[in-house]
Amino acid sequence: MKTRKITKAVFPVAGLGTRFLPATKSIPKEIMTLVDRPLIQYAIDEARAAGIKEFIFVTSRGKSALEDYFDHAPELESALRKSGKDDLLEILKDTNMDSGAIAYVRQNRPMGLGHAVWCARRLIGNEPFAVLLPDDVIAAERPCLQQMVEAHAETGGCMVAAMEVTPARTSSYGILDIGEDGGAIVKVKGMVEKPKPQDAPSNLAVIGRYILTPKVLTNLNRMKQGAGGEIQLTDAIAEETGSKSGVYGLRFRGQRYDCGSKIGFLQATVAFGLSRPEFGAEFASFLQETMAMQKAAQ
Ligand code: UTP
Repeated sequence: MKTRKITKAVFPVAGLGTRFLPATKSIPKEIMTLVDRPLIQYAIDEARAAGIKEFIFVTSRGKSALEDYFDHAPELESALRKSGKDDLLEILKDTNMDSGAIAYVRQNRPMGLGHAVWCARRLIGNEPFAVLLPDDVIAAERPCLQQMVEAHAETGGCMVAAMEVTPARTSSYGILDIGEDGGAIVKVKGMVEKPKPQDAPSNLAVIGRYILTPKVLTNLNRMKQGAGGEIQLTDAIAEETGSKSGVYGLRFRGQRYDCGSKIGFLQATVAFGLSRPEFGAEFASFLQETMAMQKAAQ
């Protein structure tokens, strides 16, 4: 199938991040760090690896730290250069964006993820685009969005990243109603936002990576508030399940961490800390000792 190359990605970062209060009173959630890199850096790296060239952020009040993060820092760079710290200069390179590659649009009120994506409609135009939620961090041998771009080249239409969840967890996710199950790729015939376990059509949940057709933006144009009083992206994608191009789910290969929740953030911190060659072994023995001490104290 001939599909158009995906070169634009939307990063909705206008949410309030209430689960991380008080930290998020002044720090955008996306700037919180896993080891030494902010959440947003993981999402940007993943998008770059998938061939994204234009990065569109949907922001809100209080997110200026996020915008500053992508600016060049001439004083810092020159100080590092003078002191011969080339390794640190190299690390900083990942944080810089080419002029014009990054754009910000504002969501005036947090009216939901669907509304946030709709706010970027003029920058997206009439082409398929990716959406990445930076609070979903995915550790994978091949970056998740890259897996999706490759699968999308076969299927066309809309594609969502999907993973199995336990029945008790369906009410925290958009859940897929599966039409045809092709193993890694499933054809979707419906989607339900946050169903109770007894109402869930499957246990295949949508997580924060999407490839969407511009038709989803048209659907969002006339969208009403759905579950939770927000404009749901899931509802606008679900409308496409009956279309000619269709909706697909990809069972991606990788480990997803929900860094929008405290437990997910802690799990990711431990996993990413353990995987660092420079101190992973030391961190592992610290964790073992701490666990042993906790056990002894009980
Ligand atoms: P969440 O559901 O995690 O909401 O949004 P949140 O506000 O970030 O966090 P909590 O639940 O209050 O702790 C998922 C993604 O959608 C974005 C968020 O920034 C996050 O990346 N979002 C959500 C928006 O950009 N605008 C919205 O109106 C809602």
